Amino acid sequence: MCGIAGYIGKNCAEKQLLESLKLLEYRGYDSAGIAVQDKNKINITKTTGKIIALENMLTSTKSICGIAHTRWATHGAPTYENTHPHLSNDSTWAVVHNGIIENYGTIKKDLISKGYNFKSETDTEVIANLLQQQNSNDIHALINTCNMLIGSYALACINKNIPNKIFLARKKSPLYVASEQGEVFIASDPVCFLSKASEYYTLADNQYCIASTKHLEFFNTSGQKINLQPTKTEKFDISYQKHNYKHYMEKEINQVPAVLNNLIETYKSADLLKKFDKNYLAKFNKIVLIGCGTAYHAGLMGARYIQEFARIDASCHIASEYRYCNPIIDNKTLCILVSQSGETADTLAVCELAKAHGATTVALTNVLYSTLARMADEILPVCAGTEIAVASTKAYTAQITVLYMFAKQLQNVIANKKENYYEIVHKLAKKITIPSPKSLKKAVLEVLASEKVFFIGRDYDYVSVKEASLKLKEITYINTAEHPAGELKHGFLSLVDKNSVVFALATQQHLLNKTLNGAHEALARGAKVIMVSQFNIPKEQTQGFYHTVKLQKFSEELLPISCISFFQLLAYETSLAKGLNPDQPRNLAKSVTVE
Ligand code: AGP
Ligand code: GLU
Repeated sequence: MCGIAGYIGKNCAEKQLLESLKLLEYRGYDSAGIAVQDKNKINITKTTGKIIALENMLTSTKSICGIAHTRWATHGAPTYENTHPHLSNDSTWAVVHNGIIENYGTIKKDLISKGYNFKSETDTEVIANLLQQQNSNDIHALINTCNMLIGSYALACINKNIPNKIFLARKKSPLYVASEQGEVFIASDPVCFLSKASEYYTLADNQYCIASTKHLEFFNTSGQKINLQPTKTEKFDISYQKHNYKHYMEKEINQVPAVLNNLIETYKSADLLKKFDKNYLAKFNKIVLIGCGTAYHAGLMGARYIQEFARIDASCHIASEYRYCNPIIDNKTLCILVSQSGETADTLAVCELAKAHGATTVALTNVLYSTLARMADEILPVCAGTEIAVASTKAYTAQITVLYMFAKQLQNVIANKKENYYEIVHKLAKKITIPSPKSLKKAVLEVLASEKVFFIGRDYDYVSVKEASLKLKEITYINTAEHPAGELKHGFLSLVDKNSVVFALATQQHLLNKTLNGAHEALARGAKVIMVSQFNIPKEQTQGFYHTVKLQKFSEELLPISCISFFQLLAYETSLAKGLNPDQPRNLAKSVTVE
């Protein structure tokens, strides 16, 4: 949430900052702004809307130092006043912030009693005024300010009287800085350093920096200088080309076969799962998987795979719930944190908690330089390549594929089997096809025509429909719901009427008739039923159903991996039909770095 950037150098600051903002837009796109130093004052340009709106307003100036922000509002609507950067009352300090200041109310009250005025409703504006209150121009101004803050922050600040220097602080929100050949780059994601700097520094919690083209000075909370080790800028696989696709989401769904191939290549060549052997597993009596949103769904599928194949006690929990429920977790727990971005605040918090309780932590993440990857004891790479669309698609498919292989590895170890899971996934990758938009037309039209959209399924299929339902609501704004197919009569059926469409997913033979029962219960209440399955279901059992979708045939345990693209595309095509932008759904952002 929120991308922050900074630049000091020899080129036009606005131009450089705009380049970074474009790469950070996935983090928030409510509003955006830039502050640059101009002689003895700070000039701010900001606007609501996307980066393109800001770009249209900017003129090139001679300024060579500035900070920038792309916002995902937490406190205060996305209005002009609430758009960052925020200025202190005396216009000395300008601040951009990613995070949440939980005690901003108390600080604001105190500052108001001292005569300070506030222009915005944000929590961030207190930081600019606290800096002013410090009456100091060195790092202590920022350290003292941060000592008063409770919450999370990545901060970049400039002072009109301190030319060509940017002050930085970090607590629980990512922040990186790079310096090369007389230029300094600052960003929430090192992706901005690609082709700009060969190495960069990662600020850890409670670390500070004063950046200038002469040097990067790092400090701890006592204000003592510290040394940080640089990281080489990876040749990230970022392709901002959409090729022949209209949107990133469409491209990313269609990349799945290539992603699966790449995944197997990576895992097989380094035999990445080998370390999970008998000795390794002997330490644990349970496996806990953690995630948020789509990553939580991937974890749910992983827990089912582990339980089914390896017969190990495995469960999956929503990070924001788990961290506050006093969980039973100790050194016999293996905790797998699932996160595409590796920056989700709640997931990071559980990782910290698990470590504090002595658990072993594994990061299942797509971003290998992320905070989660650095924090966890082990990494299972997702290998999906950069995912740009806010709605996660190929990363989900890759996550459940890794968890499938992981569960098979545990099964091999525990049951003394030698199943070649690489070969199984390799065959899947070779055969898997992504449905054509044409094959989805009937389902899309029915979704558009219905007031209510429901999804039902059991076991694996319940997890898949949870993800299907999230995908549809996320990018079409349709109020969808998913239910275990056996739970209908315990409440859900009261919602079902002739204005409802019910997608029933059945990919497991032993549960087919059970799910069909649920579908018939919905049909009897007037719903349009769309049956989704790879089985040839006898006609008499689907009589009265509105439509049947035939999925590609694979073994039942692989169907969760192969069937999800139908639902992802259903969401995508429905979003298009509604004239929406599926890549950037309203109110959402790709990386959720606040609680
Ligand atoms: C996915 O479509 C969503 N945008 C969202 O639920 C996402 O999966 C969630 O925020 C978790 O993100 P992460 O995988 O980066 O931790
Ligand atoms: N809390 C700040 C705001 O609402 C920053 C938001 C964020 O980082 O997501 O403006």
